[in-house]
Amino acid sequence: MRYQIVTFGCQMNVHESEKIAFILEGKGFLPTENREEADIIVFNTCAIREGAEDRALGNVGALKRLKKLKPHLIIAVCGCATQKESTAIYIKKTFPFVDIVIGTFNLHELGSYIDRAREKRVLELWQEGEIDEEKSYLRSSGENAWVNIMYGCNNFCTYCIVPYVRGREKSRKPKNILEEVRKIVAEGKYKKITLLGQNVNSYGKDLEEKLTFAQLLHKISEIPGDFKIGFMTSHPKDITDELIHEIATNDKVLKELHLPAQSGNDRILKIMNRRYTREKYLEIIEKCKKEVPNISLTSDFIVGFPTETEEEFNDTLSLVKEVGFSGIFAFMYSPREGTVAASMEGQVPEKVKHERVNKLLALQKQIQKEAKK
Ligand code: SAH
Ligand code: SF4
Ligand code: F3S
Repeated sequence: MRYQIVTFGCQMNVHESEKIAFILEGKGFLPTENREEADIIVFNTCAIREGAEDRALGNVGALKRLKKLKPHLIIAVCGCATQKESTAIYIKKTFPFVDIVIGTFNLHELGSYIDRAREKRVLELWQEGEIDEEKSYLRSSGENAWVNIMYGCNNFCTYCIVPYVRGREKSRKPKNILEEVRKIVAEGKYKKITLLGQNVNSYGKDLEEKLTFAQLLHKISEIPGDFKIGFMTSHPKDITDELIHEIATNDKVLKELHLPAQSGNDRILKIMNRRYTREKYLEIIEKCKKEVPNISLTSDFIVGFPTETEEEFNDTLSLVKEVGFSGIFAFMYSPREGTVAASMEGQVPEKVKHERVNKLLALQKQIQKEAKK
């Protein structure tokens, strides 16, 4: 019996697919690269932009033929896209050959859904879930081991679907995180631990026993062993001097910071609900550069947010110039149903978004070229 997992989306999903692999191998399946050979195929979907969601659904749709040839094949769809009820119901209706549709909160139950699906199609969504500390992973990212330190997000940036499909922020207990890292280090094959969360800088705020993210980093670094620590993602509004200091002074912490700015314009930042200004962002960057020489700074940007004018977009360009990032991701704004921005007046035409994203990427390319000289 063979399995294949198809993963879309961010590192969080990549890591959760390692959990899916663990569950499937526990049920006696072995991996295969060849889709035709699979007895179960799991799609771990993403909903961050329309394109990501469409790609996942297109992949699922393409399995109709295979299922006809191989009626015992189990097809499961999980993740952020299916956590949205509308998408889950759409999949169930449109793709009668899909056996299991679940969301983000009940992934750990996948094993029992597979048993149930042999009798009857499963569609089950939970509205929230507790942190599952029983889980184990079949790690597959080479020398890098992902470690989730928190789940969910409380920020409700007006464009973003994540708080709706991942729920409110929940930090894992430090004891459990440290135990997991100790185990990883003891295995001896991992050189890098990457801590994951939508907003790692607000780690610990929901815990009874208070611990800041910087303190957590410090505790992890005290685990003996030859490894480096990276983390993502940081929200500029929650960056502290304590964290910058920890990056600067802790040899085990990588000198890297992914700090999504999203825009360089104050009005746009405000209606995105990012809760920092351009000036505040640049202040953080200055501090980082000063305290951590050779720090590698990266960022995400959204172009064509509703009502964004050409001048406002130019502020993004000038911010990118001013900072000189080692790399950026630039996205065209994609309206997500149910978010505040999706129903804002003044949606920007696709053509304009295309022009802006190309301009931004061209500028970054030029900056990186200059930096190499
Ligand atoms: N939690 C992280 C971001 C997770 S999503 C943070 O706050 O930094 C990764 C990136 O996708 C975001 O930084 C943003 O640039 C982009 N993104 C999110 N929603 C989007 C949307 N509706 N349209 C286009 N890009 C979006
Ligand atoms: Fe989305 Fe904002 Fe939360 Fe990041 S901080 S996941 S962009 S709502
Ligand atoms: Fe990640 Fe996409 Fe979900 S970016 S958290 S997989 S919506």
